Amino acid sequence: MTPKVFATGVTGYVGGDVLHTILQAHPDWQYSFLVRNRTRLGSLAKDYPSIRVVEGDLGDLDILKSEAASADIVLHFASSDDRPAVQAILEGLGSDSNVRFFIHTSGTANLLWDDISNGTLGIKRTKVYDDVEDIKTITSFPDAVPHRPVDKLVLGASATYPNIRQAIVCPPAILGVGRGAGNKRTIQVPLFVELSLQRGKVFEIEQGEAAWSFVHIHDLSDVYLRLTESAAVGGGTSDWGPEAYYFAENGELQWGAIARSIAKHLHEAGALGTDEVESLSAEGASKLNPMLSWTGGMNSKSRASRARRVLGWKPQVSDFTDSLKEVIQQDLEAEKTRLQEIAEGHFPKQVKE
Ligand SMILES: NC(=O)c1ccc[n+]([C@@H]2O[C@H](COP(=O)([O-])OP(=O)(O)OC[C@H]3O[C@@H](n4cnc5c(N)ncnc54)[C@H](OP(=O)(O)O)[C@@H]3O)[C@@H](O)[C@H]2O)c1
Repeated sequence: MTPKVFATGVTGYVGGDVLHTILQAHPDWQYSFLVRNRTRLGSLAKDYPSIRVVEGDLGDLDILKSEAASADIVLHFASSDDRPAVQAILEGLGSDSNVRFFIHTSGTANLLWDDISNGTLGIKRTKVYDDVEDIKTITSFPDAVPHRPVDKLVLGASATYPNIRQAIVCPPAILGVGRGAGNKRTIQVPLFVELSLQRGKVFEIEQGEAAWSFVHIHDLSDVYLRLTESAAVGGGTSDWGPEAYYFAENGELQWGAIARSIAKHLHEAGALGTDEVESLSAEGASKLNPMLSWTGGMNSKSRASRARRVLGWKPQVSDFTDSLKEVIQQDLEAEKTRLQEIAEGHFPKQVKE
């Protein structure tokens, strides 16, 4: 039987690359995509006649429920934290006794808790959370931990709706240029690049010793492909249920080292007059941008044992030097376009409003 896949967030960085990968491997499956603006899909729906576009928002709970009720597999990328949206998807999936699969996207901001709860920034931490060995800890974090309330709802789904087989993919920081129709840029490194260009100098937070695990977007998409293919054959040998928590990393980078790399590339490209990196205090970082302290000042270290073990996942990119350069180049081009538009009198949206 042809699997029916319902997906949200397909015009985003992660969802776009994942669906690019799945569509290439399985153009014959049936797809419905929730999108807010169909022009963001470009020619995707024309290129793949198996796609049905559903215009709507995560607030359209009836749509989420009815689309989930007629799908075999739901892939959710649009938000890691929207509880009512996930509840509606689960109600749809659980509306009859057919076995259905839910693959939710979280994020390893949950592993920042050691720094958040201790009020530390820019320091080195050695704890690496393993999604097999540390699963009891990960699945019993307190509700104040980022993403935890929705993670909890998803992991509890099969207890409420016995026909649901759920899994959470929890990506770390991501590098690489996306191949989807909409957003092709990751979040964390571009924030550093943009703010460095605005300030005229690259920075690290406090001692710059905090580190995150990283994955290349193509390797991440391969986790989703393998998991979705397992779902399409009734679950396969993959883990599903209350402990089906999949990290997806292939190494870690310290934010101080990332800052030095950004400084080198921006200086060589002539975008900055210096390749120096200066240290920002916690206060300076939060004044510059409220996201900075967690994105570049805290530790989030994960080990993806489950994907390697049960999905046979073999990530290809472990040296992130080229991926970093590629993302910095992408940011420089975006900045050039932005400045060009301002010079031509087309003010960026946020400036106009
Ligand atoms: N990027 C990372 O480094 C990273 C790392 C770890 C985890 N994650 C998680 O991965 C997920 C996707 O992130 P991303 O980087 O792909 O984000 P993104 O590029 O901003 O894409 C977000 C996607 O969700 C859609 N969306 C957002 N709000 C929506 C709403 N209210 N209703 C319907 N659609 C909505 C967007 O549609 P439009 O095109 O209309 O805006 C877009 O398709 C998030 O849950 C994020 O927490 C991301």
